[in-house]
Amino acid sequence: MRVLFVCLGNICRSPTAEGMFRRHLDEAGLADRVAVDSCGIGPWHVGKAPDPRAQGAAAERGLDLSAQRARQLAAGDFARFDYLLAMDEDNLVALQARRPADCHAHVGLFLDFAGLQGRAVPDPYYGGDQGFEEVLDLVEAASLGLVEAVRRRLEGDS
Ligand code: 4NP
Repeated sequence: MRVLFVCLGNICRSPTAEGMFRRHLDEAGLADRVAVDSCGIGPWHVGKAPDPRAQGAAAERGLDLSAQRARQLAAGDFARFDYLLAMDEDNLVALQARRPADCHAHVGLFLDFAGLQGRAVPDPYYGGDQGFEEVLDLVEAASLGLVEAVRRRLEGDS
């Protein structure tokens, strides 16, 4: 099973989602059955580590994002991943526009897995520190829901 988190720059929201989901997979004993990655729609921050504010807020909750490096969405991602999960509606529209007709992956909003249908993880890049706390709160809830969805799918497969 492969999961890709998608935001605009791949330096704030999707790296946070990647770090949080890795922790929850680990806690659920599923880390060796699920591959996790994140990417951005835009090219501006390719190769960079997550924003220092995202790293700082995550570190306060025991998540180390420092090894991550930003990359841009690639055409091959639609065949490689089972889930491509957008942080907001703009990211989702961009994903749908690039989605090949033969793509069978689940392409949707990440917060659907928190029971927050149609809601976005707000972009914290131009705001204050509180935005990064809100990202962590939303991502934590959706990540726990996604672990359960993935577990059900893996059990269905086995
Ligand atoms: P992210 O945040 O999409 O959560 O990584 C952003 C990072 C950079 C920019 C926008 C959003 N930017 O415009 O450079």
